[in-house]
Amino acid sequence: MKLSPAPPGPKGHFLLGSLPEIQRDELDFLVQQVRQHGDVVHIRVVNHDSYVLSHPRDIEAVLITKSNNFIKSVFLRESRALFGDGLLTSDGTLWQRQRRMLQPAFHHEHILYYTKTMLDSTARMLATWKDGEERDVHNDMTRLTMEIVAKVLFGEEFDSEAEHACEAFGLFFRQYDERFGLYLIPEWLPTPANFRYRRAIKRLDEIVLGIIRRKRASMNGNGHSPAVLSIMLSAHDGDGPGMPEQQVRDEMMTLFFTGHETTALALAWTFHLLGQNPEKEQTLQAEVDTVLAGRAPGFQDLARMPYLDMVFKESLRLYPPAFGVVREALSDCEIGGYSIPKGATLAMFQWVVHRDPRFFERPDDFIPERWENDFAKSLPRCAYFPFGAGSRICIGNTFAQAEVPLLLASIIQKFQLKPVPGHRVVTAPSLTLRPLRGIRVKLQKR
Ligand code: HEM
Repeated sequence: MKLSPAPPGPKGHFLLGSLPEIQRDELDFLVQQVRQHGDVVHIRVVNHDSYVLSHPRDIEAVLITKSNNFIKSVFLRESRALFGDGLLTSDGTLWQRQRRMLQPAFHHEHILYYTKTMLDSTARMLATWKDGEERDVHNDMTRLTMEIVAKVLFGEEFDSEAEHACEAFGLFFRQYDERFGLYLIPEWLPTPANFRYRRAIKRLDEIVLGIIRRKRASMNGNGHSPAVLSIMLSAHDGDGPGMPEQQVRDEMMTLFFTGHETTALALAWTFHLLGQNPEKEQTLQAEVDTVLAGRAPGFQDLARMPYLDMVFKESLRLYPPAFGVVREALSDCEIGGYSIPKGATLAMFQWVVHRDPRFFERPDDFIPERWENDFAKSLPRCAYFPFGAGSRICIGNTFAQAEVPLLLASIIQKFQLKPVPGHRVVTAPSLTLRPLRGIRVKLQKR
């Protein structure tokens, strides 16, 4: 097959490339470029070339069929200061070994065990909510999912540290965005932004390392607990020594972050969508009320609430918390009829593909019913990939698929979350897809 020489794309500013447009409105810019140029778009930012892939066939090639030729990209490696060599950022044999070791913590029986913590923490939060008060539901969901993940991963009560951890992650995000906004300002430059970035990471390090050390001390002679941290602290690779503290730290920081940030966003965006679509909200309330009949939900109820499942799927379609995955080519290759050079960055955006009218009718509308009759099975592989695909698929997807619907059902059963008039919800694409100034709601007790 004859390959086209280079994919089309925007010309951009002679020095900055497409940086100004990306900074103005990244998501809209991406959608427009794909509409205009097609399934493979070349985008230059300063001196860095990226290729945006938007056809499920090409995404499948990178994430599944030819995945051996791709590693995590420079963008994720840039966040190594926080994640180190944890599952999200590592590659090769280290990643394989760690994934094998951690996978059992996400087996069905463990998820079942974690649901008690999920439900207890939610009930405790709901007991503090008051009829008529205004809240930022993104903030609340972040606190809640952080508390849950700390308990199930670390086996820790987390009340006193939650405030500090939330603050430090908030600071991390602000500085991360600033560094990326100015296009990868090197971390070693002594700028005030870099100073704050390092301070946020140091604070998070103190929290996570403190937990690891306390846990290690309390495990001496006390046997194991089911928390993921215990699995790691008691892990041995053959006859060798246990997992080095730095590796435990990297995995714990990765899971601590991924395990709360994404599910908090999935919940917050779902409340936003329900607030915009009151008739869908009523359908969901009716299902939850009928199935639960006033009692607290349990894992076994999820199978009896199909509309809840469809709402979750549709929310992940429109507001995927991880809105893009990125890889780097290890050698020259062919994708979508174009030759892609070794070292190129390949970016695949759920935000774009999930809104492609070739696969989703009325793509911008919130229609949970579209998922009826096994609609997912009729889609091409990788037309819908909120959890990624292939061997690097999200390790926490079973966790999230239990946690998000259970928390949604618990909250919806007790409260209606009405959008606060005048509060405009704005998407802020960062490492994840966040709402810029939160999602403000007014609580109405049911
Ligand atoms: C709605 C919630 C979630 C979404 C949308 C989500 C999305 C994703 C996506 C798209 C990836 C693949 C990234 C890539 O291929 O580059 C990923 C990887 C990962 N996720 Fe999630 N995630 C969610 C929840 C969770 C939870 C609850 C945990 C942990 C408890 C978790 C831990 C991870 C880890 C460790 C990886 C890296 C896996 C590997 O490379 O082996 N995620 N996630």
